[in-house]
Amino acid sequence: MTILAIDQGTTSSRAIVFSGRLDVLSVAQSEFPQYFPQSGWVEHDLSDIWSSTAAVSRAAIEKAGLSGADIAAIGIANQRETTVIWDRATGRPIHNAIVWQDRRTAETCAALRAQGHESAVTDRTGLLLDPYFSATKAAWILDHVEGARARAEAGELAFGTIDSYLIWQLTGGAVHATDATNAARTMLYDIHRGEWSGAMCDLLRVPRPMLPQVRDSAADFGTTRPDLFGAAIPIKGVAGDQQAATVGQACFRPGMMKSTYGTGCFALLNTGAQAVPSRNRLLTTIAYQLDGRPTYALEGSIFIAGAVVQWLRDGLGLIRDANETAPLAETADPAQGVVMVPAFTGLGAPYWRPDCRGAIFGLTRNTGPAELARAALESVGHQTRDLLDAMQTDWQGAHDTVLRVDGGMAASDWTMQYLADILGAPVDRPQVTETTALGAAYLAGLGAGLLPAPEVFARQWNLARRFEPHMDAAERDARHARWRRAIEATI
Ligand code: G3P
Repeated sequence: MTILAIDQGTTSSRAIVFSGRLDVLSVAQSEFPQYFPQSGWVEHDLSDIWSSTAAVSRAAIEKAGLSGADIAAIGIANQRETTVIWDRATGRPIHNAIVWQDRRTAETCAALRAQGHESAVTDRTGLLLDPYFSATKAAWILDHVEGARARAEAGELAFGTIDSYLIWQLTGGAVHATDATNAARTMLYDIHRGEWSGAMCDLLRVPRPMLPQVRDSAADFGTTRPDLFGAAIPIKGVAGDQQAATVGQACFRPGMMKSTYGTGCFALLNTGAQAVPSRNRLLTTIAYQLDGRPTYALEGSIFIAGAVVQWLRDGLGLIRDANETAPLAETADPAQGVVMVPAFTGLGAPYWRPDCRGAIFGLTRNTGPAELARAALESVGHQTRDLLDAMQTDWQGAHDTVLRVDGGMAASDWTMQYLADILGAPVDRPQVTETTALGAAYLAGLGAGLLPAPEVFARQWNLARRFEPHMDAAERDARHARWRRAIEATI
């Protein structure tokens, strides 16, 4: 018994075949182009998304020495919020996908905020009125493609996030569905009632007939067209990629938290059956939904984490390879106290300032590449601390948490040690760092009735290394206070 996990991300599509014991048997990956039609706009061509997904899926099955008939179930994890509208008759998108990073609807969101709608949006959806989420992107497409709004109202067009679009393609148009975690990122879904919100659809001008059906994260999402992989494979698990990573990290108990360090950083704290409202501009979202019961999370989204290292490499030319950053940072003069605020694309949680830009403080004539590298890596720790502080003010259950980390930057010992030091809390790095795909595979196995309940799966989670905090409290507080002053001066 093997499971295929599809991880359709922002810059690449990946497919991973897992054994019945959830060991990785093969991996295939393909990057695809990003389109920036105007400043602040980001689009994907859906034929790239679909062709890369189908190709890596086939490649991973082949690399594992298997055929489609050997795959018991498919699980999908996907870049969240990215918005697609397609024609139900032909399956063809009516516009490129508008990617989660795209800021084109910032003015629409600002106008809705000025009209006083934000609290109603937050009460129902757990989100903030920000262009990050899908609804205003969908309305933008309907307003800019001729005839689209009337066709959507007549039920001729379908809306979905990337999971829905892939399910539609994989099933040959037989299923138009999404899971609760992806629905929770659209700004159209009432996370408390567990249904699409008519009030949000009206406010954000998205016609109801175009919405997908919402299912559990481990559920029946149809079977693949037999011609795709040589067999009709059931799709049994679906979750947004950060939620899939939360599952892959086995954060099943309230108070457990994971943070994924990719281009950006997304931290999710399990709050159990309770949807905790945030007073500190975090998001309230669904971590996963099983047997019709949602488990909620508080989420902090940071837009720049690993991307700051890319900037040291490609923007400044200080390093040739990302792996050089930590050794360089270790040689820095710690007394200099250089602070970098990497707000290259504005600041996400808990500040939500799309207009603000990056800054570096404390430069002297002795500042060199090592101090900049150190400040860049430290910024990841301080941004995570801001999220944890906000979570702890919002919810008592966040106080004794141990952070489970994954993603590319989690491989850096120096960065993870600084993170533990600045949080004043342990940081755990697991043995399996393919947590997003693992989460999708587990959900698919659970949905197919092939894998045990979450508590049993959680016992398979193995620690590779724990980073204990060593910095003394006075230094930690002084360093974080300096960071906060830098933030104040930046926004
Ligand atoms: O919310 C956006 C997030 O899901 C994107 O994740 O890994 O594709 O950059 P990633």
